[in-house]
Amino acid sequence: MVGESIKLPCGQLIKNRFCKSAMTERIAGQDNFVNKRHLNLYDFWSKSGAGILLTGNVQIDRMHMEGPSNVCIEKSTYKEQLKKLKQWAEISESHGSKLWMQLSHAGRQTPGEMNAAPLAPSSVPLDIKAPGRKFGAPVAMTEEQIIDVINRFIFAATVAQDSGFSGIQIHSAHGYLMSEFLSPDVNKRTDAWGGVIKNRSRALVEIIRGCRKRLGTDFPISVKINSSDFQKGGFSAEDSIEVAKILSSEKIDLLEISGGTYEHVSFLDAGEDLGINSKPKEIRRESTIAREAYFLEYAKDIREVMNIPLMVTGGFRTKKAMNSALKEGFCEVIGVARPLCSHPYCVQDLLDGQIEKLPSYEERLRLGNGWLSPNSPFNLVRAANFLSSQYWFYTQIKKMADGKLPDLNFGPLAALLSEYKIDYRGYRDFKKAI
Ligand SMILES: Cc1cc2nc3c(=O)[nH]c(=O)nc-3n(C[C@H](O)[C@H](O)[C@H](O)COP(=O)(O)O)c2cc1C
Repeated sequence: MVGESIKLPCGQLIKNRFCKSAMTERIAGQDNFVNKRHLNLYDFWSKSGAGILLTGNVQIDRMHMEGPSNVCIEKSTYKEQLKKLKQWAEISESHGSKLWMQLSHAGRQTPGEMNAAPLAPSSVPLDIKAPGRKFGAPVAMTEEQIIDVINRFIFAATVAQDSGFSGIQIHSAHGYLMSEFLSPDVNKRTDAWGGVIKNRSRALVEIIRGCRKRLGTDFPISVKINSSDFQKGGFSAEDSIEVAKILSSEKIDLLEISGGTYEHVSFLDAGEDLGINSKPKEIRRESTIAREAYFLEYAKDIREVMNIPLMVTGGFRTKKAMNSALKEGFCEVIGVARPLCSHPYCVQDLLDGQIEKLPSYEERLRLGNGWLSPNSPFNLVRAANFLSSQYWFYTQIKKMADGKLPDLNFGPLAALLSEYKIDYRGYRDFKKAI
């Protein structure tokens, strides 16, 4: 079943059920433009086997990026990177995959080193005390600023289409701006952009409508939302179902289900947690372990209220679990991220029957055992384990960006140190460039 093609509501045919889910590349230079390294990286992933390749988060506002080396598309400079954007699309689609651009605004999760006063729906600060992570004091947006952000998303989407990308995704998950609007504990507005879920979804709906108007009816528009923020008083599973209902009357082509924010990083592991609320890994239910994908149960509830194709990302590793999720109708598309960092062609290998399970390095990446392990009783050690594992994947992405295959012997501690150094330089260069 994973090998079967699928036709999206807009008419686009996807060659199989796999999507390489978005992974931030963090390889742009000081100008935040696409460069040769993106082409090298996607040269590998063009042979990944996945029907859809989602880019990492491409930013729509340089003052609100997820990291200093993101690609950013803005009206004032976009022409300077058009040629490379076109090459990015060309190289990625050279083996039959469709390249979609994920568009994002980091909101209050913009690193503090880059913006000490980031825009957000309300002035609610992040509650994070992880080593080396700093965030600014969010400033509540004016209506004019909200309209500006909506227009920026629509503008970047048209640049994606004009450059030969085959679709876009609006990132409305993981605690970035568009998911902040949806979350009642972050969006405390009392105007038309806050309050009941219809109002909290307004900005997202306006972006979708604006994109559809500009992009036409045959161009895929996808949205990534959280199944839940996993925060008390935050965006709940019930909210997620309500948003799905709202989106089902908008003309979207694929809804991706994930979960969590920087305060509760559940998108990488149902029990993983970074920051002050940190606690040892939760014990997962047997049924969740068997199904692998930790947001599948939520997708089941969302499926009941919407007919649009669903994609679930997070934890899928075996062909057996993937096929059974498709067969049982939980989702139509399987999102895969981390396995493609260690083995860029692994989806193709699975489709060819050479392997039955995608590689899952995240299970092995740990600083040590006992109190040094990801289950350590100490917050700081758990956070360091989490970061070093995450940074290991960033390191492998950079290896491929340099035209090399991933280095599986690279240690998580080395990855942590090297990425910290890169981030430090990135922030310094960003300040110089701005
Ligand atoms: C290195 C890395 C970068 C990521 N960057 C993004 C991103 O830019 N946008 C996004 O929506 N999710 C991002 N994610 C989350 C993934 O899309 C995905 O939801 C998560 O890795 C779980 O899927 P997996 O178990 O198949 O890895 C990132 C994950 C990793 C490991």
